[in-house]
Amino acid sequence: MASLEMDVSSVAAGSTVTVKWRGKPVFVRHRTEADIKLANSVNISELRDPEPDSARVQDPKWLVVIGVCTHLGCVPLPNAGDYGGWFCPCHGSHYDISGRVRKGPAPRNLEVPEYKFLDATHLLIG
Ligand code: FES
Repeated sequence: MASLEMDVSSVAAGSTVTVKWRGKPVFVRHRTEADIKLANSVNISELRDPEPDSARVQDPKWLVVIGVCTHLGCVPLPNAGDYGGWFCPCHGSHYDISGRVRKGPAPRNLEVPEYKFLDATHLLIG
């Protein structure tokens, strides 16, 4: 299956880019210190799909998730919703800055694809 190499050097802190990988959108978020703090300020036991942020990222500055809502597959909108992450306009699921579902009908967190950093600025998805 195809991998996708991406240069992330132009992705400013606080912004999200969407790339297409294997026919699906993938969100690559360059997180700020505030984003990282927010992602780690959550009481994990209160989450529907309990995962610590540390289990979802390799480098806290970068969140890489498949941009497909785990409810019925719409594409959530970045920088939206009540938890500083994404909002799915189809039926109102809210995801936080770690891509974890916090409210709405989605049953699971946004999926983290297989990826690795080749160096400080090059990401290989898949
Ligand atoms: Fe996202 Fe239903 S598809 S909330």
